[in-house]
Amino acid sequence: MNEPRMTVPAFRARKGAGTPLVVLTAYDVATTAAAEAGGVDCLLVGDSLANVVLGYDTTLSVTMEEMLHHARAVGRARTRALLVADMPWLSYHLGWKDAVKNAARFVRDAKADAVKVEGGAKRLPVIRAILDAEIPVMGHLGLTPQSVLAMGGYKVQGRSEDAARLLLEDAKALAETGVFAIVLEGIPESLAARVTDEIAVPTIGIGAGARCDGQVLVIHDLLGMLPGPVPKFVRRYARAQEESAEAIRRWAADVRARAYPGKDESYG
Ligand code: KIV
Repeated sequence: MNEPRMTVPAFRARKGAGTPLVVLTAYDVATTAAAEAGGVDCLLVGDSLANVVLGYDTTLSVTMEEMLHHARAVGRARTRALLVADMPWLSYHLGWKDAVKNAARFVRDAKADAVKVEGGAKRLPVIRAILDAEIPVMGHLGLTPQSVLAMGGYKVQGRSEDAARLLLEDAKALAETGVFAIVLEGIPESLAARVTDEIAVPTIGIGAGARCDGQVLVIHDLLGMLPGPVPKFVRRYARAQEESAEAIRRWAADVRARAYPGKDESYG
């Protein structure tokens, strides 16, 4: 029998349930199919699309139209997992009306169940407006890549006592405002554990240690789909890039040797 589709309330109810939530990014039909076949609870159309699919240097370059183009593909391919779409930079910074309209495009056009918004206290008015439009919101605190210029690079956040206190306050404010989960990225494990213990919604960690209510990774990192180094927190479960290159080398050699296509691969 088919598993029922994951909903926002069901996802939220997994807070403290024992079995951690599993979230993975997806950007197209192939990554959605692989993630769902792998049994993830939630697909995130992350704005990491900018880096791992579109070749931009930072997530500041990816546009609403580009995000929608990929979110629609994931929406068409998704069968069961919760679908969260990342609000790209400037899609929620120019006022709450703009933010609600952009969030609604993900729901209408891409069949997203929720959107993700980076930032703490200063984003509360916009988050409230999106929630008022009945669109669930996932928060995102810590190393928020859209703040790369303000942070002066991709640095672990919340290391000082003051920074840790502010992050905890932000997490509490987001949870009280009504987000259904919060991504904690690039913060010390002890701070992530404290946030997890003190808020009522699931925390989803990435580079935030093992004490969160769930984990998220970028699928390209998990599967080794790109060459080059990966951040410390990534564990590679496959070498897809190397295996793909090797498969292509074998196919190219067969073509050059006229060993492909064979009789069985040709129409009579
Ligand atoms: O854009 C993204 O992929 C993300 C996750 C890494 C949390 O925001």
